[in-house]
Amino acid sequence: MGELFWNKVAGVVLATVLGVLAITELGHLLVPSHAAHELTAENTAYPVDWAAIGSGPSTEVVEEGPTDYGLVLAAADIGAGERAARRCAACHTFNEGGANGVGPNLWGIVNADIANHAGFSYSAALEGLEGAWTYAALDAFIENPSGYASGTAMSFRGLGNDDTRLELIAYMRSLSNNPAPLPAPLADTASLRAVDDAMGTAMEAVEEVVEHADDAGEDHEGEH
Ligand code: HEC
Repeated sequence: MGELFWNKVAGVVLATVLGVLAITELGHLLVPSHAAHELTAENTAYPVDWAAIGSGPSTEVVEEGPTDYGLVLAAADIGAGERAARRCAACHTFNEGGANGVGPNLWGIVNADIANHAGFSYSAALEGLEGAWTYAALDAFIENPSGYASGTAMSFRGLGNDDTRLELIAYMRSLSNNPAPLPAPLADTASLRAVDDAMGTAMEAVEEVVEHADDAGEDHEGEH
């Protein structure tokens, strides 16, 4: 095989590598991520104007998102939720057919219509709310009753601890002859991040190959 053949092979390999570099770089431009901080003006194959892009590669990883009820409620400790429900017992019963007290009986409350328990007279604030007690609605109401329904007669300052609240909601979900379905888990952002990390590692490997190819090319030229 002549030298020309190997030149062609090297050309194809380089073209492929450059293509991968360009695509990966485009990905970083579109989705700034922590993997991008490995790229600087010094080590990129061509100049990148970070200033024009904005603040440059972001190292920020956004952890906060909507609560993944499908995931957390399936794993929540229902026994802990039952213990947490003692805080509500001064005003609520939780058993099937239980009496209304200061507040309405809460058996089967998940997905029940808001302010609709037989024999209880609700405040105008709660009556005015549309819809059902979804997981998200219960979560928000129990965290801060008067914030969620300004003027509610539920004089309870709220349960600030996220875990306790979710355990309590998992417990309330269990209080039904036909427990409400759990929503499907949200898109798995953790695995998306893993893919991004893998891309970063692949990039480093590719950059190394390019460097070696450059060195080899220089050596080769030196021979002529
Ligand atoms: C001091 C008494 C009191 C405490 C403590 C209390 N609640 Fe209430 N709760 C009420 C009252 C009163 C209402 C009716 C509110 C209205 O009409 O505005 C209510 C309403 C509710 C509703 C809406 C029910 C429906 O039928 O729409 C839910 C859900 C609820 N409470 C959950 C809880 C949970 C969970 C706790 C414990 C973490 C708790 N409450 C603690 C008094 C209380």
